[in-house]
Amino acid sequence: MFYFQLVIMAGTVLLAYYFEYTDTFPVHVQGFFCYDRAFSKPYPGPEDRSLVPPVLVYSLISAIPTLTILTGELTAFFLKAEGSHEKTIVAADCCFFNPLLRRIIRFLGVYSFGLFTTTIFANAGQVVTGNQTPHFLSTCRPNYTALGCQSAMQYITERRACTGNPLLVLSARKSFPSKDAALSVYSAVYTVMYVTLVCRTKGTRLAKPTLCLALLSMAVLVGVVRVAEYRNHWADVLAGYFTGAAIAIFLVTCVVSSFQWARPPPVPGRPQRPESVLGMPMMPLPCVESPLEKLSGPQNTLLSLPPHPQIPTFPSPFSTPLP
Ligand SMILES: *[C@@H]1O[C@H](CO)[C@@H](O)[C@H](O)[C@H]1NC(C)=O
Repeated sequence: MFYFQLVIMAGTVLLAYYFEYTDTFPVHVQGFFCYDRAFSKPYPGPEDRSLVPPVLVYSLISAIPTLTILTGELTAFFLKAEGSHEKTIVAADCCFFNPLLRRIIRFLGVYSFGLFTTTIFANAGQVVTGNQTPHFLSTCRPNYTALGCQSAMQYITERRACTGNPLLVLSARKSFPSKDAALSVYSAVYTVMYVTLVCRTKGTRLAKPTLCLALLSMAVLVGVVRVAEYRNHWADVLAGYFTGAAIAIFLVTCVVSSFQWARPPPVPGRPQRPESVLGMPMMPLPCVESPLEKLSGPQNTLLSLPPHPQIPTFPSPFSTPLP
């Protein structure tokens, strides 16, 4: 079962690669109005000269969640081990670090899966819509005399209307939704949900909200800079925020369903509290089984939730969190 998840992961990475670095999926060529004010902003220069260049965005969205998850898991593991020393030793006869390692792999694996999914969603949206960036006409440089543009109401559908650098024109046709905004909001929301739902370390009452708000405002700032530098419209950035946040919330609430520390096992005969995330009972949506769920074997009872008594334990493609 674990290999099946590796195959899905590899397919996702491959698809993201094809979208990102090849022209397997041709960009939809959309027309434009002559002298359109919305697309006539000055060209802000290559992406690397942006205030938040791709290198910075990609290193932050890889480093911050990885460091947060590693810190959170290690802290919680060692605090727990201190509190219940005997239990750890009992569980340690074969594999002392395995529960910890499993949890880290699960959280980071689902995180990177979502990262590639967000990339695919954003790229697919850009390729299918072919919406132009605000600086499109500055890079396209259409010859208005040759196209016969007399008024601004004239719509140009000519595929060879652009005389500018073809590579720049191609990237100026990919605007909706903003990939940087989607990726940074995905990363921030996943990290914030991890910190608020999983980390139960005492003495972090003010540290956790500070970290969460800082991450979220940094992610929002990426989109604001995109708009301010005429690289995206507001609609692109808002759609990117929505895509990233939706994927993060879906993954955390549905896929990483045991995103919590161990609770006492349910007492038979007592009405059970429903599984809740974010303080609300989870909707009985058809949820996908976690790609890395199988990593936690049945012997791993110290750090993960006991298997739900009412959910069949055989691997089924769809399982509901509520019976
Ligand atoms: C634009 O097109 C006209 C007519 O085809 C041509 O005379 C003119 O040189 C072109 N201008 C540029 C900058 O290519």
